[in-house]
Amino acid sequence: MKIPDYQTCRRLLEDFAVPGHIVDHSCQVARVGVCIGRDLRRQGLNFDLDLLAAAGLLHDIAKIAALEKDCDHAELGAAWLKQKGYDEIAEIVRNHICLDTDLDGLPVARDIIYYADKRVRHAEIVSVAERMQDLKLRYGRDDSSRQWLEEMERFTLAVEKKLFTRLDFPPDRLCDRAAAIKIC
Ligand SMILES: [Fe+2]
Repeated sequence: MKIPDYQTCRRLLEDFAVPGHIVDHSCQVARVGVCIGRDLRRQGLNFDLDLLAAAGLLHDIAKIAALEKDCDHAELGAAWLKQKGYDEIAEIVRNHICLDTDLDGLPVARDIIYYADKRVRHAEIVSVAERMQDLKLRYGRDDSSRQWLEEMERFTLAVEKKLFTRLDFPPDRLCDRAAAIKIC
């Protein structure tokens, strides 16, 4: 498995001209992801924290480019990362908007980054409801997009349940727990 280190991630973000506010958001998603992964490791599950950190840092690498090309930034980012040989990170990035997972199975890395992204509004850790409210204001242009976001909220709460039934702290403690994680 090929995982870029922190400096390489920062270089990739620079190479793909990712603006500062998205880098700040991505650092926070990485912090939340590592926080959850670290605590799931304590419960006996095996997660590579370097993989979670890199996937968090790179999950929105194609956000601006995809806006310009009018395509899906998760798919475009995954394609770029796959080209660079980062196959595992590419799969996590591909899943960060539409997550393909078994809600009854054990948590996997893509669950963690999908969920971490739904807890970070800009660079601030908030509840799923607050983050989804922000997404609804920005992207809920018509009935079908509003309905899609409602479904995403319900699904994200199911992912939250999947992760937190195995953690020894509740979702509203995530902000305090993640503050101790040094990434950026
Ligand atoms: Fe994001």
